[in-house]
Amino acid sequence: MMRDVIPAHDLPSAARAPGKCILFGEHAVVHGKPELLLAIDLYAQVGVRPAPELLLNGHRSGARGHRYLQSALARLWAGEVPIDVTVASRIPKASGLGSSAAFVAALATTLVAAHGGAPRAVLAQEAFTIERSAQGVGSPGDTSASVAGGYLTLNSQSPHQGVALWDVAADGRRWGVRRVADPGWTWVVAYSGIPKDTGPLVRAVSARFAGEDGPALLDRFGEVAEDGIRAVAAEDREEVGRVLTRNQELLRAVGVSHPRLEALLAAAGPSVLGAKLTGAGGGGSIVALPREGREVDLVRRLARAGGVPFVVRPAPSGVELV
Ligand code: MEV
Repeated sequence: MMRDVIPAHDLPSAARAPGKCILFGEHAVVHGKPELLLAIDLYAQVGVRPAPELLLNGHRSGARGHRYLQSALARLWAGEVPIDVTVASRIPKASGLGSSAAFVAALATTLVAAHGGAPRAVLAQEAFTIERSAQGVGSPGDTSASVAGGYLTLNSQSPHQGVALWDVAADGRRWGVRRVADPGWTWVVAYSGIPKDTGPLVRAVSARFAGEDGPALLDRFGEVAEDGIRAVAAEDREEVGRVLTRNQELLRAVGVSHPRLEALLAAAGPSVLGAKLTGAGGGGSIVALPREGREVDLVRRLARAGGVPFVVRPAPSGVELV
C-alpha cells in the first residue's frame, strides 16, 4: 500500500514514478480551471549514488545541460556531495505522457529521503516547484499524478471533485488536488513521434487566453472538464467519449493540435468512443477511449498510422522508493 510519507533512506537509493495522461483540461488548468488526469503504468526509475562529480547516466555533459536535474539539485541538494544519477524510463521523452514529471518526482523522492523523508504532500509541492522552475510555467497536475498515482482532479467545483489530497501553490495561485475513483477502464495512448516543448506551448496558449475572447474560451474549457469529471464519475463511457471529442475541438481552437495528431485521431475512427490530444500538444500524444473489445484493433490502426501506441491502465500508487 502507498504510504503517505516518503521514509528516510540514505544514498544510494532509487525511486520509481509513473507518467501521466490528461483526460480533460490541459492548458486551462494553468489558469485555474479544472482538470482530470490519471497516472499511467509507464514508469521512470531514477537511481542516485554519491560520486566524485555530478554525472547523468555516467556522463558529465548530460548532467550539465539537464534543466530538470539542475533545478532539482538547486532546490534539494545545494552544497551536498556530488551524485551520479541514472535514469531508466519507459515513458517516451517530450511525448506529453509525463516523462519530466516522473523523472522529477523520482529524483526528488531519493533526495528528500536522504534528508530524512517527508510527507507526500510536501513532496508534491517540491516536485512542482522543481518542474516549474525548469519550465518557467505550468500547473501541478503532472507532478501530482506522479506523486499520488490514480485518478486526480484539480480545481473542480463539482460534487464529483473527489477527496482532498493537497493544495499546491506557485506565484500566488493555488491548485486543489483531489483523488477520484478509478472507473476501471483501459486507455490507449499513442505518441506521434514529434517531441514537444511544454513551456513555449503554454506561453502561446496563455497569450490566446489573454485575448478578447480568452475568458469565454477558458470558461468553455472549464465546462468541458467538469462535464468530463461528471461522466467519468457516472462511468458513462459514451458520454466520456463525446466530451473527449469536445475537448479536442477546444484544443484545436487554441492552436495546439498538429497534423500528425490529427492523423492519429482520424485513424482511431471507428474503434474509439472518443479521442483527443493529451498534454501540451504541438506534437506529443493522443489518448483514446476504445470501444469495448476494440483495443487490439485500435492499437493496430494507430501503429499503421505511424503512432507508437501503448495500452495503459492507471498506476494505482504514486512514486515509491524501490
Ligand atoms: C502539460 O502536460 C499540461 C499543461 O496543462 C501544462 C501544465 O499543466 O503544466 C499544458
